[in-house]
Amino acid sequence: SQTSDWAGRRVVITAGPTREAIDPVRYLTNHSSGRMGYALAQAAARRGAEVVLISGPVSLPTPAGVRRVDVTSAEEMWAAARTEAAGADLFVGAAAVADYRVDSVAEQKQKKQGRDGQWQLTLVENPDIIQGVAAMDQRPARVVGFAAETRDVETYARDKLARKKLDWIVANDVSRSDIGFNSTDNEVMVFGRDNQRYDMGRQPKSVLADALLDLFARAD
Ligand code: C5P
Repeated sequence: SQTSDWAGRRVVITAGPTREAIDPVRYLTNHSSGRMGYALAQAAARRGAEVVLISGPVSLPTPAGVRRVDVTSAEEMWAAARTEAAGADLFVGAAAVADYRVDSVAEQKQKKQGRDGQWQLTLVENPDIIQGVAAMDQRPARVVGFAAETRDVETYARDKLARKKLDWIVANDVSRSDIGFNSTDNEVMVFGRDNQRYDMGRQPKSVLADALLDLFARAD
């Protein structure tokens, strides 16, 4: 898009996985590549928005004109998000935030010896970043989530939309290997809080990003 329809607006996007430390050398994470969030950041910046990209560890270049804030854990991502999202025009939670972290991170590398063939880790819930942002006093005008599902896509996506008090949720079926995680293409369904539903067929994430921004730019 050659337009500057997002000029004067502030967009905050989370992207990528988070990484939850177990000890100084080990961590828990997931397969998120960050591509969808980075594509949205690039498209919004190209269309004139002031863009802040809060990024977990990924191997992608920072899109031109985007301010990138690097974080590692979910707790760090939440701290950055609550600061940056206040009063924004659009917040998009495209990050695959780890739902759990290890309850106490070991200060030293844990040894295999003396473990009797088993190692039990206790996990505790991480803050839900997008739910926290949607509940802020200075809530962004639009809050958009993503839902990666392997079944009953619409049911689970609509449940998240309502429970997290989002304006839109973008859902995709990650049981398919041709789209979603690590792929350059995506095929999504978008659900709105006023019961809207849009099916967006398979297309490059860069093209999809522009179509999504068209939708989120609407006044209703
Ligand atoms: O519940 P689930 O994690 O599948 O919801 C996905 C949506 O919630 C995504 O937009 C994701 O970025 C956001 N999320 C979050 N913080 C979490 C977990 C998910 O912002 N701790």
